[in-house]
Formats: sequence, C-alpha cells, structure tokens
Amino acid sequence: MAFAPLDTARLVLRPFSEEDAEDFAARRSDPETAMYQAWRVPYSVEKALAVIRESEHHDGPVPGHWFQLDVQRRADGRTVGDVAVYLHEHGHTAEIGYTLHSWARRKGYATEAATALIDYLVDVTGVHRVEAATHPDNARSIQVLERLGFQHEGVKREAFWVEDEVSDDELFGLLAREWRARRHALAASADADAASDA
Ligand SMILES: CC(C)(COP(=O)(O)OP(=O)(O)OC[C@H]1O[C@@H](n2cnc3c(N)ncnc32)[C@H](O)[C@@H]1OP(=O)(O)O)[C@@H](O)C(=O)NCCC(=O)NCCS
Repeated sequence: MAFAPLDTARLVLRPFSEEDAEDFAARRSDPETAMYQAWRVPYSVEKALAVIRESEHHDGPVPGHWFQLDVQRRADGRTVGDVAVYLHEHGHTAEIGYTLHSWARRKGYATEAATALIDYLVDVTGVHRVEAATHPDNARSIQVLERLGFQHEGVKREAFWVEDEVSDDELFGLLAREWRARRHALAASADADAASDA
C-alpha cells in the first residue's frame, strides 16, 4: 500500500517523486546547508534522482534503507525541506534526519515535521527507539533534538567525516515510552488551556 502522507498543522510530509529532484539538489547544493553534512557540493540532480528512486521502491521505512519524505507547506504547496529515516535491522530502532531550505528556517518547520515523523515511527512502525547523530557544532540541529525531548547519550570520537575533515559525532536518543509520555503531557496541558479559555 502506498505511503499515506502525514499531515501537521502547517505541513504535509509526502513521498518524493522524480519532479522533486531539482529542488532536492538545489537544497543540498547550498554550502551553508551542507556545512555539517557528509555530502559534497554541488549536489547533482542525478544524485538526487538516485536517492529519490531508492525511496520510491518502498512504501515506508524498511530495515536497512533510508526512506525520504518531501516536506511541503500546506498554505502554498512549496517544499520547505525533507526528512529522512533509516530503519535499523529488526526495525526496533530508527535514525532520523532533517534538512530545510535556508529560507524556511526559524519557523518551527523542522520540529513540526520531525514530530509527525516520530509519531508515525512510534505509533505505526512500532519502533522502540529513535536516534539521531550530529556534528558537535551543528547547534541548530541539536536544538531541534532537545526541543523534541531527545537525550544526549554520548559522543563517537572522530567518527564524522565532512570531506577530508573528521570530527566527533554527537549521539542523541529518544525512547518510544518517553515520546508517548511527552505527547500525553502536551495533550493534557492543551486540554487544560482550552478549559481555562472556556
Ligand atoms: C537543522 C535545521 C533543520 C534546524 O532548522 P530551524 O529552523 O532552526 O529549526 P525549526 O524549524 O524547528 O525552527 C525552530 C525555530 O523557529 C522558531 N519559530 C518561529 N515561528 C515558530 C512557530 N510558529 N512554531 C514553532 N517555532 C517557531 C523557534 O522559536 C525556533 O527558533 P530559535 O531556535 O531561535 O528559538 C536547519 O538548520 C537545517 O536545515 N540545517 C542544515 C541541515 C542540517 O544540518 N540538518 C541536520 C542534520 S543532523
């Protein structure tokens, strides 16, 4: 069954199609966006097409593969970025990543898209744990993870290569039960706010 797009208040996360390749390549070709990423710039449309075709083979996250979703703004249909998930063997652990166009930052889109993705991974895929790894200087990415409730779990020393430069890799993790408790607490406080407004 085809992957059903995930809706949030402002965004929709949907499978990529080949028409998205130019936008994907342009996003990854921005040197500032690529600063803490393992890919090189410029990022070709051919490479983007290969990534998109890899995801097109699957109707959702499959162990041993990356699955990418295009993140569109509902108001105007514009792509603001993408999220990606790698399901580890046995499907108990998922690694996530996210990238926004530079013009789409500081609006909460990465946190909103990642929230929908984690909801899906916990509720539908049934993962036990979600993890993410980031360059130690990628403060914006670390803030997204902390806002989502990830815990800093450690550092892999000299494990992250960006071109010829190696740095440490910061490791973050979130357990499904922590996510459910957090979502429950957020829903309860939203209910309390609504009741006090009534
Ligand atoms: C990492 C990255 C996605 C973070 O983007 P971001 O815009 O900082 O994160 P969000 O989309 O969650 O936005 C959060 C910001 O929007 C602000 N914001 C504005 N309007 C908002 C709204 N309506 N709702 C929520 N937040 C809002 C928040 O206050 C926050 O700003 P602050 O950090 O100054 O407090 C982005 O920097 C990026 O694409 N970097 C390049 C790729 C990359 O490194 N990816 C990570 C790989 S590990």
